[in-house]
Amino acid sequence: MIKVENLSKAFGNKTVLKDVNLEVNEGEVVAIIGPSGSGKSTLLRSLNLLEEPETGIIKVGDAKVNVSELTSKNRYQLRQQSAMVFQHFNLFKNKTVLENVTLSLTSSKRKTKNEAIKIANELLEQVGLLEQSNQYPITLSGGQQQRVSIARALAVEPKVIFMDEPTSALDPELVGEVLKTIEQLSKRNITLVIVTHEMKFAKKVADKIIFMDGGVIVESGTPDKLFSQPSSERTRRFLMSTTEDTSLDFVI
Ligand SMILES: Nc1ncnc2c1ncn2[C@@H]1O[C@H](COP(=O)(O)OP(=O)(O)O)[C@@H](O)[C@H]1O
Ligand SMILES: [Mg+2]
Repeated sequence: MIKVENLSKAFGNKTVLKDVNLEVNEGEVVAIIGPSGSGKSTLLRSLNLLEEPETGIIKVGDAKVNVSELTSKNRYQLRQQSAMVFQHFNLFKNKTVLENVTLSLTSSKRKTKNEAIKIANELLEQVGLLEQSNQYPITLSGGQQQRVSIARALAVEPKVIFMDEPTSALDPELVGEVLKTIEQLSKRNITLVIVTHEMKFAKKVADKIIFMDGGVIVESGTPDKLFSQPSSERTRRFLMSTTEDTSLDFVI
């Protein structure tokens, strides 16, 4: 579903992704962990070209680009394959919950207004927000806003959903409801790549964990292997340094 080869990205003279290689299979849930500044967001944002790396080949779903030969057409094709859930939700403040979800359906997916509303209502029901559909984002809690942005991501039926620290901006008591929503998705054969600091959540939900440090993938493996028998000293030190996380309290 995803294949990344030799991806490198610099900001000015600072290299933040160094020759990254990565594969994700269809239906897999992959968690990317690692210290702040290690390049996790840059990697995720490169996969839909929110950041444009200097070199590398990116394949997502049906699209494949060589980043040194980008055209507006192949850039568009790659972006069509995925949807993104951001740390700060990025909802349209002047649109209702329902409009936030229908917007991409009527614009890029060319659904009629009625079709879009039907799909959006189904998705809002899945994330438990049907009753809030006519409210504006500002009237919702952070957890509810993030669940709207998950419904919005699902609406375009992407091949892959990328999530960049989806619970980091939330008050601790709201983290569980969002993790629970993501866990429900993970059981539906949707390909998910999630940057997270929630180690217990990652261990429970992910099929594969990727540990990044200093712009490289230091190691990757199953949660069991990576958390209990990391092969790298850097991974071991990082895991030792992570404190207990709030997903401790999340109950399905
Ligand atoms: N737009 C930018 N301009 C300059 N430097 C950036 C930019 N975005 C990220 N960086 C730098 O790239 C490195 C990796 O950042 P990032 O991918 O955000 O790391 P992470 O998500 O793992 O915390 C950091 O040193 C960060 O300061
Ligand atoms: Mg980040």
